[in-house]
Amino acid sequence: MLELDYQAILGDVSRSVADLPAVGEVASYIPELAGVDPNKFGLSLCCVDGRLFSQGDAAECFSLQSVAKVFALALALSVDAGEVWRRVGVEPSGDPFNSLVQLEYEKGIPRNPMINAGALVVCDILTEAFDDPLGELLAFTRTLCGDEAVDFDESVAESEFSTAFRNRSLLNLMREFGNIHVDVERVLWLYTRFSALAMSCEQLARGYLFLADHGRNLPERYSALTRSRIKRINAIMLTSGFYDEAGEFAFRVGLPGKSGVGGGIAAICPDRFAVAAWSPRLGQSGNSVLGTAALAGLAEQTDSSIF
Ligand code: DON
Repeated sequence: MLELDYQAILGDVSRSVADLPAVGEVASYIPELAGVDPNKFGLSLCCVDGRLFSQGDAAECFSLQSVAKVFALALALSVDAGEVWRRVGVEPSGDPFNSLVQLEYEKGIPRNPMINAGALVVCDILTEAFDDPLGELLAFTRTLCGDEAVDFDESVAESEFSTAFRNRSLLNLMREFGNIHVDVERVLWLYTRFSALAMSCEQLARGYLFLADHGRNLPERYSALTRSRIKRINAIMLTSGFYDEAGEFAFRVGLPGKSGVGGGIAAICPDRFAVAAWSPRLGQSGNSVLGTAALAGLAEQTDSSIF
């Protein structure tokens, strides 16, 4: 294939996105996120050979929120994949990310690990497995990003922890069904810490690269995160990474990815690249409006849909 000028493509995509109307709202249900500048825009693409291309505010850190669920899932799969898939499903929910409705019908088994309920079960598994689950998750994430400076933002974590009434409801409901094993406050503590991971688009694109290169460069310590398990993370990102807009993202972009209410989206093109976009204005389903538009343009220009 002809070598693409990724830097020029990122520039082109950023310019066309800048012309779009500024629709959507910054997430404010986590008080600490409400003050983020809605006009930020960053875009980074990291090729499987390590080349990194960036545009806009790509070096500035933002709150990962649900984009971080993929890191937690990957670590849990490296610990005990059987346990994860016994306690969390693999079907799209078609519901909002924090919905309680389906969970009651389906007896406390979350539809998938990308919705809040599923990520909370993943946190329960990590809390049971490790003496210091946050330390393990940070070490894993820093390894993936190749950057020891990666950390979470304590004030964002506390802001969410003190207002997480709905996530506490999800936890208590699942605890009643026997699908949460440890104290709900400990699980929520871990969940809110890793949701508050702060990363730039550049760090995030590097952090998702293991999903594009099938884990080829993972250290021995994470060898249980096999090619086969990584394939399944990608499948779930495609079917469930954007909640009730997963279909729309597959339709417009055609790449496995994950969004977060901090306005970030990370996506991968197998064997080619990982890409991260950040724009804080969110649409109805909690996905970045301009981030989605940017990735749609990028997938088009790089001919990188998986379909
Ligand atoms: O639990 C929450 O509501 C947040 N920590 C994460 C939600 C989120 O990012 C949904 N994604 N678009």
